[in-house]
Amino acid sequence: MPELLVERRDAVELWTLNGAARRNAISQALLRELEENVDRVSAARGPGETGDTRVVVLTGAGEQAFCAGADLKERATMSEDDVRGFLEGLRRTLRKLEQSRCVFLAAINGSAFGGGTELSLACDLRLAAPTAELGLTEVKLGIIPGGGGTQRLSRLIGPGRAKDLILSGRRVNAAESFSIGLVNRLTPEGRLIELALTLAEQIAANAPLAVAEAKHAIDEGLALPLDEALALEHRHYEAVLQTEDRLEGLRAFAEKRPPRFTGR
Ligand code: COA
Repeated sequence: MPELLVERRDAVELWTLNGAARRNAISQALLRELEENVDRVSAARGPGETGDTRVVVLTGAGEQAFCAGADLKERATMSEDDVRGFLEGLRRTLRKLEQSRCVFLAAINGSAFGGGTELSLACDLRLAAPTAELGLTEVKLGIIPGGGGTQRLSRLIGPGRAKDLILSGRRVNAAESFSIGLVNRLTPEGRLIELALTLAEQIAANAPLAVAEAKHAIDEGLALPLDEALALEHRHYEAVLQTEDRLEGLRAFAEKRPPRFTGR
């Protein structure tokens, strides 16, 4: 049985962390499959490859959890070096996911603690079910977030709020997660996946190169002073200026019809 279920729907894929009995905790095997699939959807992308996956919705199997973090039962059997290797793999995989030309949406269907919250933080957008609960709870276990949580959470919600969550290790419900900007959207009961897929299709319908350049302009510019960030935006704009899709967008507007983007 795969640890990660992959379902393809045109340019959108639905990935399900498939370990409901352990609340989808990240085992070494699950991490391997996650990295393989991130590599697959990232490598297949490029100009003219319009059949490729453009958006991935990531969720957890079952009703209870998105992902309960690292697999703590497996962890108990691992040496210090094994733990280092796992963390290196987690950091590498999350960074690849973040830097991919694909857009990743986390559909948080329940508990997301530790590495589960970190996985969602590496995604571009987070949607939450009413039962979602998030938290970087690592200090309660004598460790700190090791998958980028201290850095990505601070960038997303600011250092004050990040310290509130990380130093207390407390869990925040869906409403609070939304109010502090930790999740982008709250979804009504039973509609999380449907609404996540609708958003994914909306994104996938846009010009593929434009979406990827916009994603990277935002991410890469965040750490730069404004003048450098504006110059960076300009470089990303240049990348779309000569594309056929830009001309197709103009033609479709003039002809009052939906555009047919080709990714060129
Ligand atoms: N790693 C391995 N197994 C885990 C796990 C994890 N991170 N989280 C839960 N499980 C296992 C439990 O041990 C239990 O297994 P068992 O049936 O063999 O006893 C099973 O999943 C169900 O867990 P349970 O706590 O009974 O389910 P729940 O739905 O009431 O609660 C959680 C789910 C996620 C809220 C709760 O399990 C939890 O708090 N887990 C720890 C999360 C955590 O601290 N993660 C941070 C890691 S840094």
